[in-house]
Amino acid sequence: MLKETLINATEAGAKVMQHYFNSKSLLISNKEGINNLVTEADHASEKAIIDTIKEEFPDHFILSEETGEIKSNSEYKWIIDPIDGTVNYAHGIPICCVSIGLEHNGTMIMGAVLNPFIKEYYFAEKGKGATLNGEPIHVSMESDVMKSCLVTGFPYTYINNSNGPLEAFSRFIRAGVPVRRLGSAAMDLCWVAAGRFDGFYEHKLQAWDSAAGFLIVEEAGGKVTDFEGNPYSPYQPQIAATNGKIHDDLLKWVNDKA
Ligand code: IPD
Ligand code: CA
Ligand code: CA
Repeated sequence: MLKETLINATEAGAKVMQHYFNSKSLLISNKEGINNLVTEADHASEKAIIDTIKEEFPDHFILSEETGEIKSNSEYKWIIDPIDGTVNYAHGIPICCVSIGLEHNGTMIMGAVLNPFIKEYYFAEKGKGATLNGEPIHVSMESDVMKSCLVTGFPYTYINNSNGPLEAFSRFIRAGVPVRRLGSAAMDLCWVAAGRFDGFYEHKLQAWDSAAGFLIVEEAGGKVTDFEGNPYSPYQPQIAATNGKIHDDLLKWVNDKA
């Protein structure tokens, strides 16, 4: 029933995304920062998702980007991004998705990411592998960072550190390593899981951006940590997700220790 509800909720959100996509009258507003957008589709997708979950599991804890926490004492917690890649979505760029992770007693046990525009449905259950549209997926085999195809993302508010996102990006680009920037962390993670990218790193994510995707990468055979190499928690900002083979080297590059 948990899996079925996760699938139904993801599909309910994706249906809303399709409904509003490219609508000329889409209502768009700003959160903090200049381009941290939220649209009426984000709110409607979130409502469809939460309604679907609540119908089956009214007592479960919910953490959702636009609503925040709906607290409870339940062992189960649904972590929801109703549209990951909202800026893309608002510009009619079909690199965006619904992303939902499900925690049990603090462990991520299931994750689902659905991009309805390119018809890609990623799913993972802890210990049972990861799939794309029902077919098993696996991370890439590349073992050399210099030969890797990477992806990253940038927060909407500039991180003014001596070794921030632009410094790390610049090191890779100066060395000729291709680093893409799709604008959806959940898609970035799924494309690492599918073996399209060899690695992904980002400096400042929220739990809902990565909750589903990190489990999908791990279940596809990849490795996910923070920038120190510690086991990953979606409740801290940094993420490095790779095929495992380039992981230590990628961390050295990101930390300027290569
Ligand atoms: C954003 C995307 C983007 C990442 C940003 C996130 P949103 O999520 O995942 O790739 O770089 O940090 O905020 O706002 O589109 O749900
Ligand atoms: Ca997001
Ligand atoms: Ca979002």
